[in-house]
Amino acid sequence: MKIAVASDHAGLDLKTHIIVYLESNGYDFTDLGTHSQESVDYPDFAFRLCAGIQNGQFDRGVLICGTGIGMSMAANRFVGVRAALCTHVTLAELARKHNNANVLALGGRMTGIELARKIMDVFLATDFLGDRHSSRVSKLDSFHKTNKDSV
Ligand code: RB5
Repeated sequence: MKIAVASDHAGLDLKTHIIVYLESNGYDFTDLGTHSQESVDYPDFAFRLCAGIQNGQFDRGVLICGTGIGMSMAANRFVGVRAALCTHVTLAELARKHNNANVLALGGRMTGIELARKIMDVFLATDFLGDRHSSRVSKLDSFHKTNKDSV
């Protein structure tokens, strides 16, 4: 499994801990920045990571901003990216089992390091259940609405 990790300045501290976790657990990962405390725009980092998910370079992504909200909003603009903002282990479990989430969004100012590690553990280890959930996820992945379309 190839994993990409990215954050803005508000997620940098948690990203640093997540990287130590990924390294010490032998995961194959790429750090797409940011690398300093200088203020940056979270969409730039979300878009970079999600382009890599869309083109098959990465299987999973972890995006961290202050709340996780901006990163998840940015990521979910990409068809085929299913980002879940998780603040609880059960959310990570169900995001994988039911939604086949391929991007985990975390709030660096909201979620402590230990909880973030547990959320990561579950997110990376849990399989999609498929079955009745497959057609729902397919609907997500095949839908791209513009303001000219009707539902
Ligand atoms: C940056 O100050 C903050 O707005 C950003 O990290 C994020 O929380 C946005 O959703």
